[in-house]
Amino acid sequence: MTEQTTTPVVRRVDDRHRYEILVDGERAGLTAYRDRGEQRVFFHTEVDDAFAGQGLASILVQEALTDVRASGMRIVPVCPYVAKFLKKHEEFADLTDPVTPEALRWLDGVLGR
Ligand SMILES: CC(C)(COP(=O)(O)OP(=O)(O)OC[C@H]1O[C@@H](n2cnc3c(N)ncnc32)[C@H](O)[C@@H]1OP(=O)(O)O)[C@@H](O)C(=O)NCCC(=O)NCCS
Repeated sequence: MTEQTTTPVVRRVDDRHRYEILVDGERAGLTAYRDRGEQRVFFHTEVDDAFAGQGLASILVQEALTDVRASGMRIVPVCPYVAKFLKKHEEFADLTDPVTPEALRWLDGVLGR
């Protein structure tokens, strides 16, 4: 018997400020952001335990950052997973801005924390 595998789908959900990854139509994970002018500030990535360790976070972030490029925006990697991903994927270096104390204060204000 062969197991059916389907390609995960990544979508941007603007009103929730996040990208989601769907497997067989089920949401398996998300990466959340807020926009600060032309910067898309990524602050949290999570994949549900049931889907962990399959490389889904990597697919999700790859597609999200590709969408940032297509949108003509820039990346600010507050999320440690996104920061780690960028260290391995130099093709996004030209789009990446540093995480500054000012950006972190701004994010805390926007998130009300
Ligand atoms: C981190 C997380 C999103 C990874 O999801 P996943 O689909 O299992 O990840 P992938 O299979 O694509 O990648 C695994 C990689 O994530 C890395 N990773 C795991 N937890 C991490 C963390 N907290 N910060 C940075 N990287 C992390 C692993 O070291 C591994 O790296 P490698 O590819 O170099 O070996 C998932 O474990 C999760 O939801 N964790 C809880 C929330 C969290 O800590 N989010 C990250 C900070 S916001």
